[in-house]
Amino acid sequence: MYVCSCFGITETQVREHAAGGACTPRQIASASKAGTDCGSCVRRIQSLLGRGGCPRRELLSETLAGASETAVQAVQAVQDLPEAA
Ligand code: FES
Repeated sequence: MYVCSCFGITETQVREHAAGGACTPRQIASASKAGTDCGSCVRRIQSLLGRGGCPRRELLSETLAGASETAVQAVQAVQDLPEAA
């Protein structure tokens, strides 16, 4: 299915660019030109990227969530240490 009719860019192509690291409409435009003419496809591209279309973004979110959890555990461990006399 075409996402950008101005440049003939399909949903599959947008997903491929996203898998390659393009996680914003601007990056998709740099990779494919999609969204750089009439602009009517930009919202559609944004929604594709927001719905699991960007594997790197999800990986980053999971990594940050894990790092945040680790930081909380580290703070709790420090708080549990006995105070030095
Ligand atoms: S439909 Fe994508 S720039 Fe026009």
